Amino acid sequence: MLALGLDLGTTGVRVVAVDAQGTLLAEVTHSYPLYTPQPGWTEQRPEDWAAASLAALREIAMGLEGHEIVAIGLSGQMHGMVALDYRGQPIRPAILWNDQRTGPAVAEIETAIPRRELIARTGNPAITGFHLPKLLWLRQAEPEAYSRTRHSLLPKDYLGYVLTGAMAAEPTDASGANCFNLAQKAWDKEVLSAVGVDPALFPEIIPSHGVTGLLTADAAAATGLPQGLPVVAGAGDNAAAATGLGLSSRQLAIGSVSLGTSGVIFAPLQQPTPDPEGRVHLFCHADGGYHLLGVTLAAAGSLQWYRDTLAPGQSFDELLGLAAQSPPGANGVTFKPYLAGERTPHLDPKLRGSFSGLSLATTQADLVRAVIEGVAFSLRDALDVISSLTTLSRALATGGGAKSDLWLQIVADVLELPLSRPAQNQGAAYGAALLALQGAGVVSEATMVANQATVATFRPQQSGYREPLQRYRTAS
Ligand code: XUL
Repeated sequence: MLALGLDLGTTGVRVVAVDAQGTLLAEVTHSYPLYTPQPGWTEQRPEDWAAASLAALREIAMGLEGHEIVAIGLSGQMHGMVALDYRGQPIRPAILWNDQRTGPAVAEIETAIPRRELIARTGNPAITGFHLPKLLWLRQAEPEAYSRTRHSLLPKDYLGYVLTGAMAAEPTDASGANCFNLAQKAWDKEVLSAVGVDPALFPEIIPSHGVTGLLTADAAAATGLPQGLPVVAGAGDNAAAATGLGLSSRQLAIGSVSLGTSGVIFAPLQQPTPDPEGRVHLFCHADGGYHLLGVTLAAAGSLQWYRDTLAPGQSFDELLGLAAQSPPGANGVTFKPYLAGERTPHLDPKLRGSFSGLSLATTQADLVRAVIEGVAFSLRDALDVISSLTTLSRALATGGGAKSDLWLQIVADVLELPLSRPAQNQGAAYGAALLALQGAGVVSEATMVANQATVATFRPQQSGYREPLQRYRTAS
């Protein structure tokens, strides 16, 4: 007996097959293009998502003949907006989580609803990448398209519609829309009315382990999966990945730190208590609780930028080997990783990165070390806000950057938090499969299936980062 989990990512879709003991049996990925029609705009075609997802499901299903598949669980990139017409057809390309076109719409929301009230109700201030500002952008910039919009869906919920013909949303992703009432776990009609948006554009909310609908005959024919297979609503990629790591809002002290393209700190919470200034995101977790999410937009992405622009031809291992030759504090060099603006705690898409403290004595080793330390300092800024709301005693470390012992030790030292590498980290698709097992009634709680073993722990050792952290905070 097994479940499929699907993660509709920004570069591609990943589908995994997981059995009732949590063992990963198969995985398939398919990619699709990302369009940037103007600087700061990011779009994808919902039709590309659907085609790649159906093809990936077909490919994985072919290798699983003889197995009983009980459900498909969904996860994916958060915040995106898919506008559908009355026939359920996409009206225009989807606008993605990292799109920055919505500055005026954010100002419009802030004028309509006092910032503190919006944070108290929805957990977050208006943020350019979130869903509602995109809808207001559409109303202002493409009024004809807006007038034809009957449904406004999040990316993975659109896929749920393609698979089942039914529209639903679930709390983890809905809480990244800027119009979801956290305490009531419902679309916030007062917020929507203040900005003049019809709540009927948004689908019914069901729990993350709830069944969106059953696989249609068309989707069954396209994938080779049985018609009538339950499709479980699942969770946004961060909550799904946390579910796959076994992070539960009933076990508050354990969080996660991810060093992917962007860097993320995930901290479970029992109550929806936001930072009053909204510097860190507050979203619903997939288990009925909540979580804080600190996001630094260029983590491993900063090292990638460094490699691509200043050290082409050098491998990441070579660069990290060089960084080990520079001491803590990188001989006075400071790097700010705001290459894509910043979320936590600055919430400023216009912020920019910098190197400072360069001298004739500066070496490449100092530069690379400053880059990876700068990412750690930016995570520390996020953790300081999180620590005013909850206390983490340790965290699981994931993402490409977490493969480096040096980088993990630096992050553990700077955060003053023990970091452990999980024995198994299969990402958001895996967490979605666990939610599908729960939705199909195979297990009582998704996180209980997750393997919580760890293979290495990095404890804070070096206190020599206090002065460099101060320098980072005051550098321009
Ligand atoms: C979270 C966020 C990203 C996307 C990326 O707020 O914007 O993690 O979900 O997939």
